[in-house]
Amino acid sequence: MKIDGTHYRTIWQDDAGVVQVIDQRWLPHELRIVPLKTRADFVVAIRDMWVRGAPLIGAAAAWGVAVAMQEDPSDAGLTETWDVLHETRPTAINLRWALDEMERVLRPLAPAERAEAAAKRAAEICDEDVEINRNIGLHGLEIIKAIAAKKPGQTVNILTHCNAGWLATVDWGTATSPIYHAHEAGIPVHVFVDETRPRNQGAQLTAWELNHHGIPHSLVVDNAGGHFMQHGEVDMVIVGTDRTTARGDVCNKIGTYLKALAAKANGVPFYVALPSPTIDWRVDDGVKEIPIEERNQEEVTLVQGRGADGQIALVQISPDGTPARNPAFDVTPAELVTGLLTERGLCPADTAEMEKMFSDLKSAMLAG
Ligand code: MRU
Repeated sequence: MKIDGTHYRTIWQDDAGVVQVIDQRWLPHELRIVPLKTRADFVVAIRDMWVRGAPLIGAAAAWGVAVAMQEDPSDAGLTETWDVLHETRPTAINLRWALDEMERVLRPLAPAERAEAAAKRAAEICDEDVEINRNIGLHGLEIIKAIAAKKPGQTVNILTHCNAGWLATVDWGTATSPIYHAHEAGIPVHVFVDETRPRNQGAQLTAWELNHHGIPHSLVVDNAGGHFMQHGEVDMVIVGTDRTTARGDVCNKIGTYLKALAAKANGVPFYVALPSPTIDWRVDDGVKEIPIEERNQEEVTLVQGRGADGQIALVQISPDGTPARNPAFDVTPAELVTGLLTERGLCPADTAEMEKMFSDLKSAMLAG
């Protein structure tokens, strides 16, 4: 998508072949683009959330393998790279999906052929992500159009949580792709942006994205969603997902589950934008089986922002020594999900329906 008129992706290879990323830790205050030149750089960038969002984590891992193959293309090097990158973040399944995909392509090759083949596949994975997200947007546009048709001349209000925008993917975003398409189609939309404590991906990233695209939005505290739904101010919720199970349980940023409960209680449709690489066909019961990343306490006790002096600073918001818990994700059971918005169309969050739409991908994952 565009930043001040210039088109960017979140990750790309420059003319010298070096992988560049937007370092998201400094947004919205500073746009910093940094090179990732070694496998170790990729490990830090994913683990410390310079890049984040399930699809982008997968794309970055693919490029991490490609760079690692320049360093050590041996069988042992490939195995170690898979392990080291896999440990960076445990919840988003796109990470494992991308590592498995790179392994599938590279393992049969002679070591001398691996670096080139890895760069080619990593670039393809990025292009595929863009296409998947564009298609999610086109299917989502139909839903927004249907809502708009029921309230002619009025704005369609959409609530989203965290950042499932283009910054979380290679381009377009998942949850935001229908919104960008609707905006381009001239449908008046307004987005309620949950701030998304503790790391504030909504306040810092989604608000920044929407602002750059001129899409009307309001930043709201995480606890406000239920209120707006109760008062008929939300027409639909669209969120992203870090891992969706074979029966349609959705693991996403902490707080998503509460939004789904509020949506159900108020008759507001709750859609999940789901790229197919985010489906984990090995897992059924998301609450019991998905490992939830527990991040450090300082993400809860400290908040980053820009001070009056223009400097980016961390401030402490709790008493010295206050213990905190910081689960980064939660699971929304399938029965709370109105529909899964995939690149192949809208799919009910249901085992049989998901299998019908994605039988090829399910077989491929379970065979691998
Ligand atoms: O911890 P993050 O910022 O990587 O979490 C991101 C989310 O939870 C997104 O909603 C999810 O990855 C979907 S992104 C298209």
